[in-house]
Amino acid sequence: MSYTTRKRIAQLRETDPSDELIEIFAWVRTKRDSKNVCFFELNDGSSLKGLQAIIDKAPNESGTPDLQDEIDRMQTGCSIRVAGRLVESPGKGQSVELACTDLEIIGEAPADEYPLQKKRHSFEFLREIAHLRGRTNTFGAVMRVRNELSYAVHRFFQDRGFLYIQTPIITASDAEGAGALFQVTTMDLDGLARSGGPVDYQHDFFGKPAFLTVSGQLNAEAYATALERVYTFGPTFRAEHSNTTRHLAEFWMIEPEMAFCDLECNVELAADFVRALLSAVLERSPEDMRFFDERIEKGIFADLERVATSTFEHMTYTDAISALETAPRSFDYPVSWGIDLQTEHEKYLTDEYIKGPVVVTDYPKEIKAFYMKQNPDGKTVRAMDVLVPRLGEIIGGSQREEDHDALVTRIEEMGLPREAYSWYLDLRRFGTVPHSGFGLGFERLVRYVTGMQNIRDVIPFPRAVGSAEF
Ligand code: 4AD
Ligand code: MG
Repeated sequence: MSYTTRKRIAQLRETDPSDELIEIFAWVRTKRDSKNVCFFELNDGSSLKGLQAIIDKAPNESGTPDLQDEIDRMQTGCSIRVAGRLVESPGKGQSVELACTDLEIIGEAPADEYPLQKKRHSFEFLREIAHLRGRTNTFGAVMRVRNELSYAVHRFFQDRGFLYIQTPIITASDAEGAGALFQVTTMDLDGLARSGGPVDYQHDFFGKPAFLTVSGQLNAEAYATALERVYTFGPTFRAEHSNTTRHLAEFWMIEPEMAFCDLECNVELAADFVRALLSAVLERSPEDMRFFDERIEKGIFADLERVATSTFEHMTYTDAISALETAPRSFDYPVSWGIDLQTEHEKYLTDEYIKGPVVVTDYPKEIKAFYMKQNPDGKTVRAMDVLVPRLGEIIGGSQREEDHDALVTRIEEMGLPREAYSWYLDLRRFGTVPHSGFGLGFERLVRYVTGMQNIRDVIPFPRAVGSAEF
């Protein structure tokens, strides 16, 4: 069973008919059995469309053995080994099919128990069986596109000289200063609760409070100010009680960080990055993308094609507020200068006002993180969010404050523990440089690209408030 010689269905579908005997390992999607012939559809996850196989039951000179016992045991969902020859297919939508001469059931899937019997199940139902949903067309396509996108992320940065660095998952500092942290402890919480005693973190594993990281940015900055351009691509965790279709408690984030780079340079990098990712997936996953276009979000293929070659509009936060204030519609959340943009505002700007992706910059400092570089106006910071249609924010980033004293002032103004950031301040004490970076939420990207409605349906096993199954 060498994996190197085993042919996969994606490859076989492109192969010409021949007399060569081939062997396939796959799962059965459907079966149609009649007196003289049995048709069944195989899928091995290598592509959206499977391969049709036929067993000719009529006695013939090829001497096909009687496979009726196996045919009877073959149900939707079972795993099999089949052997046969590729023949020209008379059917529509495929050029070849497998004339099967041998069939072995590897693992049965009893029809009265296997939950994936219907042609289409609701995404809500499939979320309850996340361990099996990868066997459906939609989730197979989502995971292949997700894979293509993660490959494209690395290609994009590797081609431009960025070093892939791995930043820690356990951290003592709150990178965003937003307080949405999961605490990590080995202390006996039940015992502490029973004793009613005070919590002494000296007895905790790290000798002080520790958390799961919300962002690798601060650590990435340390390496960007050494190696000039780096990126991270790892899991991040946020204990926000946001029960929405665009928030997860555990999500993957891509964070480039670049020295000698101001906000304009950061905007340029972000737009290049998004365009490159879209081009890559359209070029490399056309079949899956056509599926999303037909079944999930009509017109998405052409829409992404257009975005992949367009320039991204740019507006300041102040201009965005004006556009919202004069919008020919009302919002649930009232608009005024200083508010944090809500999803409805972001969607108006990108879906209706610009009708394409838009980069919004220079937000009020009060609604942004402590590390962002302040503008001379004293009110705004060099922040940047990239908003895309149907979704809103997909990227958040900024130019960083590289001035030591200005950063200390900001940390103190915001009531953050200066001590915890002393190493971060060192980066401004020694060889400081203008530098910038951003974070792209990987699941937001997959949602945008596939047109799926809920972020929980673009990650293999979603973790969200109140739910961490599987
Ligand atoms: O805008 P955010 O909070 O920015 C940062 O964390 C910066 N430290 C990034 C940087 O400059 N290096 O998050 C970045 C992106 C958001 O634009 C969004 O796409 C995604 O991360 N994101 C989430 N995705 C899923 N679930 C959540 N709860 C998310 N929170 C943020
Ligand atoms: Mg943000």
